[in-house]
Amino acid sequence: MTAANERVVIFDTTLRDGEQCPGATMTFDEKLEVAHLLDRMGVDIIEAGFPIASNGDFEAVAEIARRTENAVVAGLARAIPGDIARCGEAVRFAKRPRIHTFVSTSPIHLKHQMRKTEEEVLEIIATTVAQARNLVDDVEWSAMDATRTGHEYLARAVEAAIRAGATTINLPDTVGYATPDEYRAMFVAMRERVPGADKVIFSTHCHDDLGLAVANSLAGLAGGARQIECTVNGIGERAGNAALEEIVMALRTRRDALPYETGVESTLLTRASRLVSAATSFPVQYNKAIVGKNAFAHESGIHQDGMLKNNETYEIMTPATVGVTKTSLVMGKHSGRAAFKDKLKALGYELGENALQDAFARFKELADRKKHVYDEDIEALVDNQIASGNDRIKVLSLIVIAGTMGPQSATLTLDIEGVHTTVQSTGNGPVDAIFNAIRSVAPHEASLALYQVHAVTEGTDAQAEVSVRLEEGEKTVSAKVADPDTLVASAKAYVAALNKLTVKRQQVNAQAAISA
Ligand code: KIV
Ligand code: ZN
Repeated sequence: MTAANERVVIFDTTLRDGEQCPGATMTFDEKLEVAHLLDRMGVDIIEAGFPIASNGDFEAVAEIARRTENAVVAGLARAIPGDIARCGEAVRFAKRPRIHTFVSTSPIHLKHQMRKTEEEVLEIIATTVAQARNLVDDVEWSAMDATRTGHEYLARAVEAAIRAGATTINLPDTVGYATPDEYRAMFVAMRERVPGADKVIFSTHCHDDLGLAVANSLAGLAGGARQIECTVNGIGERAGNAALEEIVMALRTRRDALPYETGVESTLLTRASRLVSAATSFPVQYNKAIVGKNAFAHESGIHQDGMLKNNETYEIMTPATVGVTKTSLVMGKHSGRAAFKDKLKALGYELGENALQDAFARFKELADRKKHVYDEDIEALVDNQIASGNDRIKVLSLIVIAGTMGPQSATLTLDIEGVHTTVQSTGNGPVDAIFNAIRSVAPHEASLALYQVHAVTEGTDAQAEVSVRLEEGEKTVSAKVADPDTLVASAKAYVAALNKLTVKRQQVNAQAAISA
């Protein structure tokens, strides 16, 4: 490695800050699946969750810690002794554990949220970082709302954290307020004025409220940061975090201007984007950089003409570098298990024996019902499977009567924790009838905030991908399911959202208990 291409550490927080995105709740199995892919991709650090937040979060962090082969596994903890102890318990199973602890430093947060003086916060930093350092060798400390903190006090806080044993110092733009110049200058100032700054790694953590998260992260590198915190698809609190795929591809494509390297395998970026979209049920906007459906599409005649003559006319990176394969007709009902396994591999999936068996059976079922099975169909099928691991409620059967002779009705059988119940309901259209049936078997207060249908591929036999979002008070959950039958997909998507609501309720109850 030369001075011209210094290594930048990629810290992925999809499973922590990403999951804090309203509606993006992931189940235990989905979190394990995402962590597995991040590890395979070469992400350096996986922030697996916030162990004190709930038993579910604790178990997910602990299991990811046990299973992760290469990456450092971090857990988040507030600057509270109980949080740090619990985080230490969860990450201790990792080959390379990290405790990430944070406290606010800005005058606004100190006055209104923490109600503490600057001196009190310095004392908290010293004791909590030291406590974490007694549990693990790798401790990250974050100055929450660093970009709205005066440099003088920020330098004292960073110095306290370094003295107490922090090995990484993260300076987040928590509210997405900084400009690139300001963000770079903050790192320069801290590295110049804080004793011991040369012994730690500085990290960026940028939110996208003004659309500057990636630009600010790159400006942080210019200021001397060597770790970037980011999330797949840029999901996260409010407008989200810096997008991992954008950071990785900016560094790779513009090595001339940005002389840094990451260890991320870029051909898995599209796969990661689809997996996170399936697990969170958050669609990726069509024009999203790197992983959007249109990121490599050329519509205008002039662009198409140029592309036919030479790709470089309108393409700064090839689709293959981010793992986009040409849509292809895969296989039909006569395709065998080995060909199916090969196809999954080419699409970036690595399934265990049982999951492969299951996926193959579902593929056969699909091939029986659908004339052409495309790559996108296979992806939707496997992603559905990942997203419906240990569900509390399952759809067993559905019969719908629709048409001009209303009222439309649905006869639905659900399995709720092993108990099978059948009901018949009517409604204002078949989807309404189905949702009424679900509500009568599994009563709940949540209201339907979104119902959306997309075709996975073209043609009248295309699978329908249905998204459902439910809201219950402050809680929002979303789910996405594909099926050749739009009505079956609708029933399954609603039920999947209800399953996510159960996970969300547990998280919220546990969080209420810890902040009481
Ligand atoms: O945005 C932020 O400040 C955070 C910290 C907990 C690192 O997410
Ligand atoms: Zn954040």
